[in-house]
Amino acid sequence: MPEWRSVASKRNIKISTDADGDTENQYVSEELFYDIHIFCCTNERPETHKRGSCVVKGSRELCDYMCRRSMAMGLNGIRINHAGCLNRCELGPTMVIYPEGVWYTYTNEADIDEILKSHVMNGRRVKRLLLQPDQGPRH
Ligand code: FES
Repeated sequence: MPEWRSVASKRNIKISTDADGDTENQYVSEELFYDIHIFCCTNERPETHKRGSCVVKGSRELCDYMCRRSMAMGLNGIRINHAGCLNRCELGPTMVIYPEGVWYTYTNEADIDEILKSHVMNGRRVKRLLLQPDQGPRH
């Protein structure tokens, strides 16, 4: 199995220090517990619910597929979790990837493969699947 490590194994965070009464900004490198942490909404509602739900659109099976594929690809340092409602139901199935907080919608296994290969392995966002911050209702 190939050894692989995410491009995001460390991140730079900004901290403020108070030296001699002055506040000074510093950037430090912080080791992450998971390089990449993915949350896939697997919330389920009745099919007649006005907001819909990600499970009805196949999110549970696709999240499980993503877990299997990431293991088969030998991806270390990442965690993929089922999540409750991420509150962007109308745009689902939804997932959010940290540490960047990048949101995706997806509909099939090919979308999952592309997110794993492009975003997770190579740090390149999959533009056609991105959810923008201004999309979807804020409840
Ligand atoms: S049901 Fe998936 S975001 Fe709400």
